[in-house]
Amino acid sequence: MKKHFLLAPGPTPIPPEVLLAMARPIVHHRTPLYEEILREVREGLKYLFRTKNEVLIFASSGTGAMEGAVTNTLSPGDKALVVEGGKFGERFTNLCRVYGVKPVVLPVEWGKAIDPAAIGKALKEEPSIRAVMTQATETSTGVLHPIREIAAMVSQHPGTILVVDGISHLGAVELPMDEWKLDVVICGSQKALMLPPGLAFAALSDKAWQFVERSTLPKFYFDFQKELKNLTKNQSAYTPAISLVVGLAESLRMIRQEGLENIIARHARLAKAARAAMAALGLQLYAPQAYSDAVTAVVAPPGIDGQKVVRILREKHNLTIAGGQDQAKGKIFRLAHMGYIDQSDLLAGIAAVELTLQELGYSFELGKGVRAAMEVLSE
Ligand SMILES: Cc1ncc(COP(=O)(O)O)c(C=O)c1O
Repeated sequence: MKKHFLLAPGPTPIPPEVLLAMARPIVHHRTPLYEEILREVREGLKYLFRTKNEVLIFASSGTGAMEGAVTNTLSPGDKALVVEGGKFGERFTNLCRVYGVKPVVLPVEWGKAIDPAAIGKALKEEPSIRAVMTQATETSTGVLHPIREIAAMVSQHPGTILVVDGISHLGAVELPMDEWKLDVVICGSQKALMLPPGLAFAALSDKAWQFVERSTLPKFYFDFQKELKNLTKNQSAYTPAISLVVGLAESLRMIRQEGLENIIARHARLAKAARAAMAALGLQLYAPQAYSDAVTAVVAPPGIDGQKVVRILREKHNLTIAGGQDQAKGKIFRLAHMGYIDQSDLLAGIAAVELTLQELGYSFELGKGVRAAMEVLSE
């Protein structure tokens, strides 16, 4: 018997209600029935993003919305300030280069958060910067960037927008778009939204929509204006990922039922328990001063390869977590607690991590991590 556990930072587990919704016979998208589903989805997405504006939906992975954010708001030769403290920060830099946007890279040591003052300084030095691009949670390092403080800086510059990649963040950790004055917020379906991969989302502030009007970069599928026009009629420009949208309607219903504040509190509680467990095992966090509640990145014990931890968990315990990427490869493992995860899932995950570390020869008192997590969970 093999029962699989998924504690990876995407894809994440899917609730049975959502799976069943997606298993229903497909509906045609040019029908009143689908339009009614999309009408409900539009409201649910506005609730999730905490915005009055529309949230665009694309049939792509999250990167599609990142690409669309670049091509719809900027023009060739524009400068974009990119916070680069991990794999996904690098993606914004690469995207900018491909489209002839000049990235001004703000390098951040992996495992650290950006100092918002560095953004303020860069904007002062180069007032021609048109966009600041950052992750909210940098999944590759488990870092939480100070988005609220960054937004407070950027919003003082009428000629600059803030693009926030909330792919591993929205629906798990606080990110109220309108209240914090975020200009573009991007998300993907396979994280806290409790859906399979395949949908990308982008919401824009009024300020960002003005940038869209002036943008001259080429775009076709990811044409935000075209998509907005269709969305307001409960339609999409092209064939939508119908079954995923039907699943989304269900997951958004669940999100509204639990309530965003309760969901954020649940993630905070699980993340605190995960961190307490790792500390009790004598392990260090990769982002000890700036951890996100969506994913916990843990430094592998000295002499133990983080990739081996991941492999043994998968092969012997049927539990999938993530290892490190690039410079963090082998050095860390990443335990996610994002989306449809409860305390029993987390405790099972921590127990399996302990069994794995024991097998790899790490010396500690078995059960100490689980106990520390239980103590937090019983608070
Ligand atoms: C923060 C962040 N940005 C971007 C992406 C890329 O999203 P996708 O793989 O859905 O294209 C991911 C995916 O893990 C992510 O975690």
